[in-house]
Amino acid sequence: EQAESNLSVTVVGASGDLAKKKIFPALFALFYEDCLPQNFTIFGYARTKMTDEELREMISRTLTCRIDKRENCGDKMEKFLERCFYHSGQYNSEEHFAELDSKMKQKEGGKVSNRLFYLSIPPDIFVDVVRCASGKASSKNGWTRVIVEKPFGRDAESSGELTRSLKQYLAEDQIFRIDHYLGKELVENLSVLRFSNLVFEPLWSRNYIRNVQFIFSEDFGTEGRGGYFDNYGIIRDIMQNHLLQILALFAMETPVSLDAEDIRNEKVKVLRSMRRLRLEDVVIGQYKRNSKDGKTHLGYTEDPTVPNDSLTPTFAAAALFIDNARWDGVPFLMKAGKALNTRRAEIRVQFRHVPGNLYKRNFGTDLDKATNELVLRVQPDEAIYLKINNKIPGLGMRLDRSDLNLLYSARYSKEIPDAYERLLLDAIEGERRLFIRSDELDAAWSIFTPLLKELEAKKIAPELYPYGSRGPVGAHYLAANYNVRWGDLTGDD
Ligand code: BG6
Repeated sequence: EQAESNLSVTVVGASGDLAKKKIFPALFALFYEDCLPQNFTIFGYARTKMTDEELREMISRTLTCRIDKRENCGDKMEKFLERCFYHSGQYNSEEHFAELDSKMKQKEGGKVSNRLFYLSIPPDIFVDVVRCASGKASSKNGWTRVIVEKPFGRDAESSGELTRSLKQYLAEDQIFRIDHYLGKELVENLSVLRFSNLVFEPLWSRNYIRNVQFIFSEDFGTEGRGGYFDNYGIIRDIMQNHLLQILALFAMETPVSLDAEDIRNEKVKVLRSMRRLRLEDVVIGQYKRNSKDGKTHLGYTEDPTVPNDSLTPTFAAAALFIDNARWDGVPFLMKAGKALNTRRAEIRVQFRHVPGNLYKRNFGTDLDKATNELVLRVQPDEAIYLKINNKIPGLGMRLDRSDLNLLYSARYSKEIPDAYERLLLDAIEGERRLFIRSDELDAAWSIFTPLLKELEAKKIAPELYPYGSRGPVGAHYLAANYNVRWGDLTGDD
């Protein structure tokens, strides 16, 4: 079948940052790994005037070869670039998409043609592009699919409106809503860990788990992206999608099978069991100017693209609850922030105390420090480790905290593919498991929308924190309300 069909991938918004940094390199990596069909063509589409050569020159600057596969990389790049073409056009012009269609037809050579559009553009032009692309450049004899990336609206209403508009031109199964965190290796592994190991799933409930933490931090600010960011803020940028998606996979019931619809049904169910977030369960922050390591970092509102009086949060911590039998009363804490002291993303599962612990007196007064904690470090340095108590070797009876540690770089020599590679390949193969279905998106927005509106209506001021710090202390008090300590701040992570 592969030899008979053509694939055309059109990157709409080809000169944008995401396209240059992620999409073209991911397409090249797939080509390199022989994952693309034999006949494929890549089109860049944007308003800027550019020749095919100029596009190739632009793309070639960001293509990289895997460390473990340097051989022939240069040749492969040449071959890849030969398949890349550019078409300049307006985003709302049916005529220009019709021109793209004829270019595609020339390359396709009359075989079955499948067409994938990647919308790497601002959301206010999604619908225009979809209208023009579906009307004038969709495939006549194969499939046509469209990948869209967040923001999917700003709240439940605008997101619903966007879905309705897209569905005027596309069927749900043509829309691939990407959340690139779902393409990360450790996030995909979460289900494997839970459902294929006897030692975890039986513990996966309120009976044994005290709390779960989803932590995202970046050690840089919104540099250069303030214009986009200010309209959204960290809750919409990271929590409502990336962290909530991980939470859903973490907390869902066992799906009937690994089919996309079965998995997504379970995710929707758990999301619908979640309580709407209340103002008192949230702390927001915004970074301010700070001098660190001999360098002055500007505050968020000093970014020229951000209004001076902006109240947009660049940090948020939240306590969420799932009102179902498995998770009743267990706090699910989220924390996401920019311009913090470190860059990492992780899931931390804190287990309950051992009842009637025989070794209690060896732990001193702080039993919390002796509880088991399972950590999935999504990035950087992917790892899964379990904190356990262990006897210090020797004649006495002293205990300490040790890790059962699966560090990916030590265990696997293979480089981990970028999230976009997996997701693009899935979209090409029609595998929808890692994409967001519209009812899932609705459920996600319902949890956050009332809070987001309240924050804006009441003009809640974020707590300021210095660039490069650990974030607002409010996050600490929020966790303390639920008897929780942030695992990443205990000093023995
Ligand atoms: C994006 C957000 O979705 O994810 C960015 O819009 C954020 O603000 C980025 O920096 C983080 O992705 P990653 O893969 O670098 O952790």
